[in-house]
Amino acid sequence: MKDNLIIEGSQPLYGSVRTSGAKNAALVLIIASIMAEGQTVLDNVPKIRDVEVVIKILNEIGIKAKWQDDGSLSICPPSGHVVSNTPYELSKMLRASNLFLGAFLGRQGEATISMPGGCDIGSRPMDLHLKGVQALGAKVEIEHGYIYAKRKQPIGASIYLDFPSVGATENIMMMAAKTPGLTIIENSAKEPEIVDLANFLNAMGAKIRGAGTDIIRIEGAEVLQAVRHQIIPDRIEAGTYMIAAAITGGEILVENVISTHLHPVMAKLQEAGAYVEENDSGILVKAGNKIKPVDIKTLPYPGFPTDMQSQMMALLCFAEGTSVIVENIFENRFQIVDELKRMGANIKLEGHTAVVEGPRRLNGAKVKATDLRAGAALILAGLVAEGKTEIENSTHIYRGYENIAGKLVSLGARIK
Ligand code: EPU
Repeated sequence: MKDNLIIEGSQPLYGSVRTSGAKNAALVLIIASIMAEGQTVLDNVPKIRDVEVVIKILNEIGIKAKWQDDGSLSICPPSGHVVSNTPYELSKMLRASNLFLGAFLGRQGEATISMPGGCDIGSRPMDLHLKGVQALGAKVEIEHGYIYAKRKQPIGASIYLDFPSVGATENIMMMAAKTPGLTIIENSAKEPEIVDLANFLNAMGAKIRGAGTDIIRIEGAEVLQAVRHQIIPDRIEAGTYMIAAAITGGEILVENVISTHLHPVMAKLQEAGAYVEENDSGILVKAGNKIKPVDIKTLPYPGFPTDMQSQMMALLCFAEGTSVIVENIFENRFQIVDELKRMGANIKLEGHTAVVEGPRRLNGAKVKATDLRAGAALILAGLVAEGKTEIENSTHIYRGYENIAGKLVSLGARIK
């Protein structure tokens, strides 16, 4: 199969690798650009499949988005009204297409977006997104698989989120940035991607305070002007290469990182026995003599990220003892377990908890990437498994990792 990745295991990785721009910041910032007047230029946008899908959606609805010769991405919405209908065939490929809700409501007071269904990592409800935009004066109807939202009497409001949802916080921030009056989001998400969105919108003329804490205050602005902005580095991609060092017994310097974003991952890698050092060039990870078992609980930022849970599970298969992993964010993020078991892992599942018994020697096998992060974890496992690992459905991995095979090969991996 042409999309399958084939990995030959058993070699420590050495060298340095540069992190690309953050997928989850790039997606929301590209979408937020449609609220600006003029041409937005975004630097450090990763060349990954999810970004290509958003570009396609924009081009289909009449908003010009294209790569420039210097590697930046330009987005240039027309001045008048655009068709705010995100096409189903493209939207279903990308959960983040739900972020067009807040961006279109902010831009032109109405949005028609394809209602997202369930997906490979679990149910992805929209209740908090809708609660937010309704509080800001949007009337919402759901019919024939679409959300129709129209701003009736837009006015800032106080919104309490029952859970600090990243997407809901982003949708509310975007709509509120152009809604008159003061909006307060309580129990807002605190992820670094939220802070990047706030910085971007503020540079455009929005008035957002408190991003990165659990209360965000937004005063609506009348006009947002296009700017040039650099996307933050991808903390999950960086974390994946940090684990590559620990799991293969190697030493990797991960460059272009904001190390505070990685403290939860660094802490767990140190507990697992790796040497981790922040320096001027990035984060250096050197494998310890042995991998120690650790317990992990996924939580909203600054807790341990769900997007690193599968990769950590791959590492803990080799730990000398028992590790307990509790997944608190997405209910289907344990599909990786059956794939790792095909490679010889000893993992028991009980609801939201996985018990990983180590150390095991993994054998290469034919396995399936059930989602993006599970795919990355299978690559990590394949790097140290005996023999050949073939990963089906590798397209999942290209959704979120720029040139992952090339970057790992430059560190000494054998991947085709
Ligand atoms: N939730 C609700 N109601 C809502 C929205 C969310 O109950 O209206 C629940 C979800 O069911 C889930 C939890 O809240 O249990 C967290 O969902 P959240 O809304 O925070 O996630 P998201 O915005 O859909 C983003 C990232 C994910 C990342 C999560 C958590 C983007 C494009 N996606 O998703 O990234 O896992 O935040 O950090 O920003 C990935 O990169 O692999 C990925 C899945």
